[in-house]
Amino acid sequence: MSKPIAVVGSNMVDLITYVTRMPDRGETVEAPRFEMGCGGKGANQAVAAAKLGAEVLMVTKVGDDPFADTTIANLAKHGIDTRHVERVPGTSSGVAPIFVEPSGENSILIIKGANAMLSPADVDRAAADLKRCGLITMQLEVPLETVYHTIAFGAANGIETLLNPAPACADLDIERIRTLSFLVPNETELAILSGMPVDGEEAVVAAARSLVAKGIRTVIVTMGGRGALLVTADRCSRIAPVKVTPVDTTGAGDAFIGSFSRYYSLTGDLTAALDKAVRYAADSITRPGTQKSYATAAEFEAFCRKVDGAA
Ligand code: RIB
Ligand code: NA
Repeated sequence: MSKPIAVVGSNMVDLITYVTRMPDRGETVEAPRFEMGCGGKGANQAVAAAKLGAEVLMVTKVGDDPFADTTIANLAKHGIDTRHVERVPGTSSGVAPIFVEPSGENSILIIKGANAMLSPADVDRAAADLKRCGLITMQLEVPLETVYHTIAFGAANGIETLLNPAPACADLDIERIRTLSFLVPNETELAILSGMPVDGEEAVVAAARSLVAKGIRTVIVTMGGRGALLVTADRCSRIAPVKVTPVDTTGAGDAFIGSFSRYYSLTGDLTAALDKAVRYAADSITRPGTQKSYATAAEFEAFCRKVDGAA
């Protein structure tokens, strides 16, 4: 049995509007469809790992509104340990109005709400349970100090740590994330963190190398329809994409990270876990929604058989 995975991060309720086009300023446009779903990068990653069979613990904060109940019930439904999900009186839960265009591309607004109050002390309160975990996964929808503190906690306790630096944040201090096991940016985030251009694969590799040179052991760059890149001090490999027709790309990055966390924890095989993660994310974009588009282990196996059969 592999050790549990902890997600120290965010939760949101996604308010998803499927638009035919985005309105201009001052304009009112009718949209054909609306759906509410559970989201937030942290919760999405936790749910993806849990759907694939991982034992998952989440450290997060919800507000004082009906969205809080929705979120806690949803995490519990997926078998996620919610003992460290805390309610904050007088605050809203995290909410994300999302607009999905006919191409499947999205625009997202996030209101952090209670997520903005997740503190280093909350991480310390969960310390005994976190110490049982093999991997702690984080994102940037909670305060940076909490992320730094958690990375230091992982290093001090021999627990592997993964940071998905999303949404992009120019203030992230590379010095304070150097002990990470994995940094997993997309190309935009990589450009911001490295201060280097990312136009073309060579540029992406150079930018990722610059972060490795600063002490980060493993940089994994997610590149959407072009797969992913793995860069370490002595390795640079490309993980090939899987061709699918996108319906809704929302939460695909989270699908990648949740499934990577699961398979890496399970086998310790970095390359195999990355290959699975590219496939899992590709499968998720063939269905609408965030978490509800994530496959279970059985569904994912069926998708992989189909992909391998077509190859
Ligand atoms: O990564 C996708 C997620 O970003 C959405 O679920 C939304 O909640 C925002 O946090
Ligand atoms: Na999807």
